[in-house]
Amino acid sequence: MKPKTEHLIYRGSLKLALTGLWLFFLYLPVLSQQPADLTSFKPGGEWLADDGAHIDCHGGNIIYVELLKTFYWYGEHRGQPGGASCYSSKDLYNWKNEGVVLDKGDIQTFERPKVIYDEVNKRYVMWFHYDGNGYTIAELGVAVSDSPTGPFTIKDHYRPNGHESRDIGMYFDPETKKAYIGYAADHTNLTIRMVELSADYLSLTTNDVDIKAHCEGPGILKKGGIFYLLTSGCSGWTPNPATYYTAPDIMGPYTDQGHPFTGDAGNNSFNSQPCYIFKIPGYVNAYLYMGDRWNGGGRPESQYVFLPITITEDGKMELHWYKEWDLSMFTPERKRPAR
Ligand code: GAL
Repeated sequence: MKPKTEHLIYRGSLKLALTGLWLFFLYLPVLSQQPADLTSFKPGGEWLADDGAHIDCHGGNIIYVELLKTFYWYGEHRGQPGGASCYSSKDLYNWKNEGVVLDKGDIQTFERPKVIYDEVNKRYVMWFHYDGNGYTIAELGVAVSDSPTGPFTIKDHYRPNGHESRDIGMYFDPETKKAYIGYAADHTNLTIRMVELSADYLSLTTNDVDIKAHCEGPGILKKGGIFYLLTSGCSGWTPNPATYYTAPDIMGPYTDQGHPFTGDAGNNSFNSQPCYIFKIPGYVNAYLYMGDRWNGGGRPESQYVFLPITITEDGKMELHWYKEWDLSMFTPERKRPAR
């Protein structure tokens, strides 16, 4: 009996070892694709997600969900299927691919998705540029999901208060909990309009004004009671020098303040187009510029230019080039002393 048992044990162990070896070789390619832990931003560089693939999330925005202690990055998924992608992160450097959270189906042009978290109704609301191939439909679309990682269901699409709408930006005021969309509007983006959203963020109010700026790709931040609107010029996928405007109120009046990109030798916003400004929680005045490097076309492999935005003591917006940088550039907010 005994030798037979030993023989069985031996055979069992051998089988286990062989299975282990087989699994090791099976997953070796996957393991070797895992990017190393990232500890910095490299504007314009290659940026891989946890799956080892290039992050495909363009023209979008980042939100931080306090409840889940997680950042979510939404954007255009320009690979197949087209629509909106989502990536999640705990530190803004390392991103997990959460997949396509909205499949655009037969929508011809789906661009610049922006998501807002509705804390009251515990819902995620996505607004986006809804259009046809010739950009003549020019509408806003709205979709909703109960989960940050989707799926998002499209609820509606229309022209805001009857106006054309193409590139959009979004601003959420943490004090009033009100949200606004800045949209490149009539006569092929001849101006930007600002519209206030309803309290549940699912529709638009008629508080909708022409802020008299001819531009695209709007990003908005507020500091010291002043609103800063950063925009690109209108040159399609080709980068151009950005302009920023300031206003005492989100609805204006806005004043042109010139180009904020300092030392921008190519005069093209460090070869990028703005898509959003994210206020990084936990740091004092930490504003993250999110820009797309389209390389002449909206391809899946287009890169990202993430840079810190400085508001100088005399209230000027400045962006400087860094080949590599990290969040230690910002001052952490002082934590309340424990009682
Ligand atoms: C840009 C716009 C992009 C895309 C592109 C198409 O001006 O910012 O989102 O619409 O035009 O040419």
